[in-house]
Amino acid sequence: MRILAVETSCDDTAVALLDGCSAVAERVHNQSVHSQHGGVVPELASRSHLKILPGLVSEVLLSGGMNGLNEIDVFAATAGPGLTGSLLVGLAWSKAAAWAARKPFLAINHLAAHLFIHYCPERLVVFPAVALLVSGGHTSLFRMNSWQEILLLGSTRDDAAGEAFDKTAKLTGLGYPGGAALDIAADSGNPENCSLPSPMADPAQPEFSFSGLKTAAKLLWEKGAPRSDLAASFRKTVVDILVSKLMFQSRKLGAKSVLAAGGVTANSLLRKVLRQECASGNLELFLPDKEHSTDNALMVGRAAAAILERDPEASSPLSCNAFARWSGTSLSPIGCPPRQ
Ligand code: KG4
Ligand code: ZN
Repeated sequence: MRILAVETSCDDTAVALLDGCSAVAERVHNQSVHSQHGGVVPELASRSHLKILPGLVSEVLLSGGMNGLNEIDVFAATAGPGLTGSLLVGLAWSKAAAWAARKPFLAINHLAAHLFIHYCPERLVVFPAVALLVSGGHTSLFRMNSWQEILLLGSTRDDAAGEAFDKTAKLTGLGYPGGAALDIAADSGNPENCSLPSPMADPAQPEFSFSGLKTAAKLLWEKGAPRSDLAASFRKTVVDILVSKLMFQSRKLGAKSVLAAGGVTANSLLRKVLRQECASGNLELFLPDKEHSTDNALMVGRAAAAILERDPEASSPLSCNAFARWSGTSLSPIGCPPRQ
């Protein structure tokens, strides 16, 4: 089963060719145009997807040894949540390709796709599991009873952790998007030299709040706190909150596995602490490699593979639309919004 997966939910254009769950070829193009604006400019992102996507598909097909779109069995694309204009580019391209090649099209939920990077026959997740989804747009905890039953435990009430990383990085002159740069700056700082509050830190509370932390970092920066110490303290505070809540839920729900996904799982301290905590709690940890922590199309393809494994005839209607937000309590890889 050859799946051509497309991801254009924000500012990364990504294409992957899969054989079932396995990656055959993949490319990600990071749009650099936004850094000069200090944030993603939605119209520039859409225009850039429109320009980059066809060439990226050709590269992936060539590198995967395909002669053309007629050799693809299923087309999949992210339908949401994300920037509507960006989503529409990948969605419209995939629908048109599926229509032209007379093959099924599958609309995929971006949040579920982040978790489905771990859907892979080589390493099976043992359920129940608890999943932490931590990206630029979302911070949520889920209970996973199976790949079909993914239940929301709680989300951030304000900023996502990645957004807080990006805003603090921008504030301290580390550019945009600055999560990765702040992670590097933190390596040479001492977290004990800067005292930051830990908002909503009760491990038993599965919701998050990062906007106050970002404001506290701003106040310290304005008082002259050294960048590396502030970065180290900020990183440690966020990681402690994320991991303590994740571990609390894992113990409470008797989880056998812990899944982590989303751009912030590229963070070096988060990776280290997750590994330590899961090892001492005897929990199997599923952590994406750094390349597949941030947005990519392999995760979209794997979400499609999971849908097809249960229903080989599955397809989304070509009328399926893009959606900006997800607000359910049960997460499914199928990305068509309930009302068309
Ligand atoms: O999953 P993703 O690529 O896009 C969304 O779906 O939002 O996540 C992007 C986020 C950005 O906020 C970025 O700054 C953050 O992931 N990020 C990091 C690191 N690398 C990427 N945050 C902290 N430390 C990192 N090393
Ligand atoms: Zn994402």
